[in-house]
Amino acid sequence: MRRGAWVAFSILVAVFAATAFGGGIVGTGHDFSSEVWSEGRICLPCHVPHDAQTDDDGSTMVLWNHSVTNETFTMYSGFVLERLDRDQDEQPGGASKLCLSCHDGATAVDAFGGGPESPSMYATDTSLGTDLRDDHPIGIQYPPDGLAGFKPRANLSPVKLVSWGGRTDRVECTSCHEPHSDDFGMFLRMDNTGSALCLQCHDK
Ligand code: HEC
Ligand code: HEC
Ligand code: HEC
Ligand code: HEC
Repeated sequence: MRRGAWVAFSILVAVFAATAFGGGIVGTGHDFSSEVWSEGRICLPCHVPHDAQTDDDGSTMVLWNHSVTNETFTMYSGFVLERLDRDQDEQPGGASKLCLSCHDGATAVDAFGGGPESPSMYATDTSLGTDLRDDHPIGIQYPPDGLAGFKPRANLSPVKLVSWGGRTDRVECTSCHEPHSDDFGMFLRMDNTGSALCLQCHDK
């Protein structure tokens, strides 16, 4: 390829990489490519194309490369409304467990690839810790349509309900967050001005 064409092609690739997930992950708090331990790669701390980890039951986990948290979490429990369909005290799973594999304050950010455990970096500033009683409930099923106070399931986008491991319509970290795009700040799925994100589900 001629030099000019090559430069144009490279710019195109860079633009594509930056727009693949909205504004993209480049330059966000989830871009560790400038850290020596990341080997200059953006996806590697979280994903790997081969020899990725599988869940305990053998199911796949988005080609996950990062060490998975071993912590035991204390779940939100102070629900005002008693609902029989709510799982009680179930440990985090699905995508929430992947997020907590860095945001638990205990698992190092640079522990991935089954490599040597010489962890040095923790998501300290944004650690939720292992006590999730003071965080929005996760791992809970969204109420059936018609329950007062909640919007119908069909109209929730761009927030979303998550299904994993046989469970359906869960509120998980990724209901509100998109780890690859920081367009709205805080890796949120939408602008939360006027608590718009909250009102996407809550009818208040
Ligand atoms: C900080 C960790 C992190 C980094 C870095 C990261 N991802 Fe992800 N990725 C996740 C998590 C967590 C999920 C699961 C999200 C879900 O289930 O919605 C995921 C899911 C995915 C998925 C499947 C679901 C979807 O959103 O389409 C693809 C494809 C993907 N990532 C591609 C990439 C690529 C390509 C890169 C590098 C440019 C990358 N990711 C970097 C954490 C990361
Ligand atoms: C590979 C480790 C890793 C994974 C996996 C990961 N994060 Fe992060 N995240 C970080 C680090 C490190 C920061 C920067 C925080 C800091 O400076 O302490 C961060 C920052 C954030 C921030 C704050 C951004 C800001 O502007 O302050 C949010 C929100 C966030 N992550 C949510 C998530 C969610 C939700 C998931 C799962 C979908 C996730 N993260 C998965 C490591 C990770
Ligand atoms: C119901 C929506 C919702 C759910 C579910 C949710 N978050 Fe958040 N999260 C938010 C909002 C909104 C903010 C921004 C708060 C602000 O700007 O003050 C935030 C902020 C954060 C931050 C940065 C601020 C801080 O507290 O340090 C992190 C990290 C984070 N969330 C991680 C997670 C993880 C990990 C999960 C799952 C265990 C999760 N979130 C579940 C809505 C949610
Ligand atoms: C993806 C949908 C969704 C989004 C977005 C969402 N919530 Fe929730 N929220 C729920 C569900 C479902 C429950 C649990 C309802 C139940 O089982 O009683 C809940 C519970 C709560 C509770 C606790 C109620 C109790 O009984 O203790 C509060 C408070 C709350 N949410 C506030 C917020 C705020 C503030 C935001 C925005 C930052 C937000 N929610 C965003 C779905 C959502």
